[in-house]
Parts: sequence; C-alpha cells; structure tokens
Amino acid sequence: MNRSTSRFIVGFLVGILTSCLGFAWLGQVDAESPDSSKMMLTVAHALPVSHPVHKGLEHFGHELHELSGGTMSISIYPSGQLGNETECLEKIQQGGIDIAKVSTAPIGNFAPVFRLFSLPYLFRDRRHYWNILDGPIGADLLQRLGTREDGEPTGLVGLGYYDAGSRSFYTTRPVTRPTDLEGMKIRVQQDPVAADTVKAMGASAVAMPFGELYTALKQGGVDGAENNPPSFLSSRHFEVCDHYVLDSHSRIPDVLVGSGKLWNNLNDAQRGWIEEAIKRSSLFQRTLWKEESELALQTLEANGVTVHIANTPAFREAAEVVMEKHATGERATLASKIKATP
Ligand code: GCU
Repeated sequence: MNRSTSRFIVGFLVGILTSCLGFAWLGQVDAESPDSSKMMLTVAHALPVSHPVHKGLEHFGHELHELSGGTMSISIYPSGQLGNETECLEKIQQGGIDIAKVSTAPIGNFAPVFRLFSLPYLFRDRRHYWNILDGPIGADLLQRLGTREDGEPTGLVGLGYYDAGSRSFYTTRPVTRPTDLEGMKIRVQQDPVAADTVKAMGASAVAMPFGELYTALKQGGVDGAENNPPSFLSSRHFEVCDHYVLDSHSRIPDVLVGSGKLWNNLNDAQRGWIEEAIKRSSLFQRTLWKEESELALQTLEANGVTVHIANTPAFREAAEVVMEKHATGERATLASKIKATP
C-alpha cells in the first residue's frame, strides 16, 4: 500500500467515524426536544367544553397553527383542570400557564380598575358593550393589565376580550323583583362589586369559584347564583335551580390573559400571530355567542326552567347604591365616559 492510498483509507475511516458521531449527537438532541422549532402553549379556562368559550379557544388554536405555519399550537385545559380563575392568574404570573380565559371579575383583584366592568347596568346593551370593548377604553385597559400602579410589571398580558353576555339571577324559588331575593344566599364571583350588587338586591352574597358551585347548590349551601345562559346551561346548575329572571344586572366581559414570561420569550412574528389569532377567535366567539345564548335559553326552558320577566326598573333602582359606592376615582371617570359613548 503506497502512502497516498493509506492516507486515503485513514481519511475515509475518520470521515465515517465523524459522521457517525455527528448523527449520534443529533439523535440525542432530537430525543431531548422532539422539534425545538415547534411551540405548544398551555391554555386554561374554567368552563365546560360545550361552552362557547371553549369553542372560541379551539378556533384560536386553529388560527394560530395556520398563521404560524404549524410552528405554534395550543393545548386547552377546560373545566378548571389547572385551577380556578384566580389560581390560573397566579400560575400565569409564575409562567406555569401560558394563556387563560378568565372573567374581568377576578382580574379586579390584580388590577382594581377592572372592577369597572362589574358595575351594575353600566352598559345599555350588547352593542354598547362591544363598542366600548373594541374602542379606546377597552384597548387601554388591556394594555394596562401588564403594569401595576407602582409601575412594576404584573406578569400578565391582556390579549383580547370574549363575549360573556349579561348576568341574571337563577334560583330555587321564583324571583321577579329584588324583594323576592330577600333571605336567599346567592353565589358571586370573588369580586366585591358583585357581592355588593347582590346585597343591594336584598340577598346574602357567598363568594366561591365557579367549579365549586354545583355541589354548593346541590347541598343547599346557596339558593342560587347569577350568570349568562350558556354558563347556567353547560354547568347543569339548572338541575337545582329552576327559576331564571332576566334582570341582566351586569355585563362582565371575559378576557384572554397571557403570561409576561411567555411574552418576553417570543419574537415579534410569534407575538403578531398570537394577537391576530386572538382577534379572529374573538370575532368568531362573539358571533357564536349570540346563537348559543338564544339556544341555551330555549334548552333551559325545555329542561324545566321557568324564565321570568324581570321588573327591571326595581332592579336598576336597587343597584344605584352600588354605583355610588364603587364608581369612584378613575372608575367614576371611565363610567361617565362609557355612559356618554353611543
Ligand atoms: C362566566 C364567565 C366565567 C366565570 C363565571 C363565574 O361564565 O365566563 O369566566 O368563571 O362566569 O361566574 O365564575
């Protein structure tokens, strides 16, 4: 074997060895992170899968997957599997959940200006509500969710709104006017404005997470609650409460909240895809809301619920003290702007 042949053979063997080591190394990387260019976001909410919120989030997942060219997907954990809404917000701050759909009511305990939305009879109707949420006040509040009053980050990112309709009382006994609520224990969200609204109507308020309500109703711990038709139906609370009075005392929106930790790790394109997918899912969810809300009311009736016409002027009058107590400072300014908006 001359010198050049043996050099060739040694070179050839070294080449093979290097390639084998290279493939072995790549394999290991693959085994550890199956495809590091793909991202799976954890999305949580507290409602059942039959609820329009869940369908809205599925739409969000679909749009995000399309927009990101298949590089971003979501995994949805419904029915409070990852905790109640307050716990979800805490997990978002820690980075344990990427996105959650929560009501603005528990958000008020993280950013008190959000209690604005719990004020009774703040919005005239659904059109007015969406005009505000789609307009400068809605955008400004979402933006401010990221920063505490002392300027420090909250760890939360406001991403968009979902429709949550209007809330009315459902109870074990018939109600058409506030005095009918006297002596009843009514469950409310963890929100002082909601508690004071119920008290102003003459009932006692019992704050508890949505996921605990079915058992509380069954065991007689509370005599009723208040919510929109899809939530009343999908939670099966109608199995205990067979009266629903359409007093529509509040329109408390739902919000998609992202984690500040997630947001800081995304590039501009990824943020843009999330924002666009949320915008599309919000439009989808609000269209679905209208249909599903009407259908839910019919289904509730078909399941034996008596729907009562409310003495609305009496409910409005009883709620006035809540406006006086809670529409103060900045919330008063915003409430007046909202009322002056067509
Ligand atoms: C609505 C809202 C939920 C909330 C629930 C409640 O259904 O969409 O986010 O958890 O009310 O009353 O707790």
